[in-house]
Amino acid sequence: MKTSIQGRVGATTLINGKFLDVFAGTGYLGLQSHPRVIRAAADCLEQYGVSSTIPRGGLGEHPVYAELETRAAEFFGAEKASLFASGYLGPSFLAQSTATLYDVIFIDSDAHFSIWDAAQGTNKPIFVFHHRDPDDLERQLAAHLKPNERPLVFTDGVFPISGEIAPLDAYLPLIENLSGRIFVDDAHAGGVLGPHGRGTTDYFALPDGVVRSCVTLSKAFGTGGGLIYGTRGWVEALEKASRISAGASSIPLAMAAAAAASLQIAREEPSLREQLWRNVSKAKQGMREIGFAMDDSPVPILCIPAQAGLNLIAVRDRLFDRGIAVEWVQQYTSVPAGGALRIAIFATHSESQIRRLIDELSHLI
Ligand SMILES: Cc1ncc(COP(=O)(O)O)c(C=O)c1O
Repeated sequence: MKTSIQGRVGATTLINGKFLDVFAGTGYLGLQSHPRVIRAAADCLEQYGVSSTIPRGGLGEHPVYAELETRAAEFFGAEKASLFASGYLGPSFLAQSTATLYDVIFIDSDAHFSIWDAAQGTNKPIFVFHHRDPDDLERQLAAHLKPNERPLVFTDGVFPISGEIAPLDAYLPLIENLSGRIFVDDAHAGGVLGPHGRGTTDYFALPDGVVRSCVTLSKAFGTGGGLIYGTRGWVEALEKASRISAGASSIPLAMAAAAAASLQIAREEPSLREQLWRNVSKAKQGMREIGFAMDDSPVPILCIPAQAGLNLIAVRDRLFDRGIAVEWVQQYTSVPAGGALRIAIFATHSESQIRRLIDELSHLI
């Protein structure tokens, strides 16, 4: 099925010439089409043009980037945040600038591409543990760590297709006595999970320090760019050591202005996040009522794995014909064997949209 998006992406969007209810993608808080976010980008474009074209390390420090980092630090409750070109670079940013702090890397078998690339870029030994399995992590640590070697556990916080949460709380006790670290690619949890929306560490109430996250602005925050955050000393040390800070241009100015506005809205309006959680809870309950097993986490990703007797590609196509867009995914990280239907829930979905999704699905299965 070939599709082309022709309007602003929100809970409803123009696709292939017709308006559909959208349950696809990652704009969980709906901020990508928020009037204040669009206004911020437009004003910035008018004032500063499209790009600064001077690196931040040269003459190019810019009030728009500084503002974004201030808003990010406020949102994540940190002393300082650092912006870079994309969420994909986050794991590399963390791994390459802290290479003196760990000796051996342990990766979740379903980790995102960003993590594999980051780990391979370090030239350290890499071992794999079974997906979300603390027992296997413990076995791998015992089997591969030599005396005095420090482990780095590398994982997604929320897995992008399966929607599962990494059990960071169970990993932490396994590495604390080994002077280990856990680095989390929190692309799908930032803005969504935890009482403050700060991600998986907020969800598990883990202290800052041993566990460190990177987040993206391209999903719940609806804009673009990657971030790390922490104490001023930690962030400044990473910025100094990172080849990414030195070698890659930052995001375009208008995008930075949009992201600053988006972070501010997400902080000032926790009701957005609470609405998202309510919508997720309703959608998961509805799915259970029509026979699908669902966890009860607030992750806004509903995953229907391939199963015998259910043609999920046909389900996706029929839903599309009935005005509902969901995604069929086969080649990505964390996809269950055989593929899956991925349904994304937004804060901006109405109750009737969620009801209609469940009703239509129940007729198709
Ligand atoms: C887990 C994970 N990490 C990183 C990324 C990349 O983020 P970005 O597109 O903002 O570079 C994605 C998806 O795009 C993702 O799913």
